[in-house]
Amino acid sequence: MGSQSEWKEVMNRAPEKEPDRQRYFMARCREIIEHRKQELGRELTFNDQTFGCQMNFKDSEKLNGILEEIGYVRTDSEKADFVYYNTCTVRENANIRVYGRLGTLKTYKKANPEMIIAMCGCMMQEPEEVEKVRNTFRFVDVVFGTHNIYKLAELLYRALSGKSRIFDVWDKAEEIIEDLPSDRKISFKAGVNIMFGCNNFCSYCIVPYVRGRERSRKPEDILEEVRKLAAEGVKEIMFLGQNVNSYGKTLKDPVTFADLLRMAEQVEGIERIRFMTSHPKDLSDELIEVMAASKKICRHLHLPVQSGSDRILKMMNRHYTKEQYLGLVEKLRKAVPDLSLTTDIIVGFPGETEEDIEETIDVVRKARYDSAFTFIYSRRSGTPAAKIEDNTPDRVIHDRFDRVLAVVNEVAKEQNAAMQGKTGLVLAEGIDEKDPSMLTGRLSNNNVVHFKADPSLIGQIVPVVLEEARGFYYIGRLEDA
Ligand code: SAH
Ligand code: SF4
Ligand code: F3S
Repeated sequence: MGSQSEWKEVMNRAPEKEPDRQRYFMARCREIIEHRKQELGRELTFNDQTFGCQMNFKDSEKLNGILEEIGYVRTDSEKADFVYYNTCTVRENANIRVYGRLGTLKTYKKANPEMIIAMCGCMMQEPEEVEKVRNTFRFVDVVFGTHNIYKLAELLYRALSGKSRIFDVWDKAEEIIEDLPSDRKISFKAGVNIMFGCNNFCSYCIVPYVRGRERSRKPEDILEEVRKLAAEGVKEIMFLGQNVNSYGKTLKDPVTFADLLRMAEQVEGIERIRFMTSHPKDLSDELIEVMAASKKICRHLHLPVQSGSDRILKMMNRHYTKEQYLGLVEKLRKAVPDLSLTTDIIVGFPGETEEDIEETIDVVRKARYDSAFTFIYSRRSGTPAAKIEDNTPDRVIHDRFDRVLAVVNEVAKEQNAAMQGKTGLVLAEGIDEKDPSMLTGRLSNNNVVHFKADPSLIGQIVPVVLEEARGFYYIGRLEDA
């Protein structure tokens, strides 16, 4: 694959400026891939394994966009010529899952000398994990982090033209690079990054350490992307950030998240706007007003509470009390009566007592969540909470977890029946996995609906009579059918 001097020449000629530099490396990679395809007489394939949250899934779309530009063809099989693991480290079981799966790649690689294996994402921002990959998983060829995913083409060029392993993890983010390819799996729905990183440092959370400081994209760049998506036929967008409510504060010309929503609402063709995640401490009255007045912003708010106990909330560094949180919920319910509210809850924070758990259960009953993700606290090294001693037995924590979950389910079931008998607008998203004669879609409030309809309706927003509430979803009927 070229001599050492050719390689040096290519590196020397690379432009300094981004994204030009990456476009240059994409072209160089494309030449190599094209050449290999000729030699092998077949396509070269890639496979992505993505773990974690919407941020990671969005990053994988960008990585896939670059890989397709280079000439790789996507496959669902891990027996591919390029496989990457985009990892999550928010809780320990996320790490365990990654290492559990990684081993199988070793045998695939033995059978295919062409194969390149990469690891990236949040886990790779932790030096001890990188060391583990370096020493224990020696078949991994390329390691990079969350701050340099846009450099994939350059890293891949080095991997394709040499045989040494590449480790390139940055501890800080540089500027935000716009205008690189991206590949979506669904044609009518898209996530849009509006900010990166997090400055909140909740005491249990590793995200600020692996995703870096909060950075907002410029509103004009975001809106340009939204307009482009609308032109491509996207109907629903989801604004993504760890704390969207603090969007724009760090920009040279500050704008609020509410301003951004108002501007996005003007984009023709976009019919639904969602966003994730809202931190209760930064949820403004202005945002509530914009939501209430909007025809496009979906009737759903994910508002993680984490705990109902003031003592624990303080230890978590969340900057609100139970009363303030419930006050916010009340304000929201008044302004947006058909709002569906969901949340995240952590059970087993160090030192959590029976009384604390009762407070959490009380919040669930009072806030009346449509659904909640309930997590058992996981100790993340390097976070402040990791230093707090705790000797609560596991079985006590599991018992509390089960009790919280039982109330979450009981409340969710009641909440989810609220629209039974009514007609709702559903974005038909795909064929029902269990019954291929049905389609599956979502209401504005994010509830799932299954209904009999022709697959040609996929991607369209249609009126559906919500005939029967079945726990966490509705069985419906197309209104005119
Ligand atoms: N930025 C988002 C959440 C990102 S992480 C927010 O602040 O809401 C998603 C969820 O994982 C968190 O809301 C929290 O409930 C959970 N989580 C984060 N760190 C955790 C830990 N160490 N143990 C258990 N759950 C955790
Ligand atoms: Fe983690 Fe808190 Fe930031 Fe969410 S807001 S990512 S929980 S530190
Ligand atoms: Fe996981 Fe990173 Fe998201 S740690 S939850 S993938 S920001």
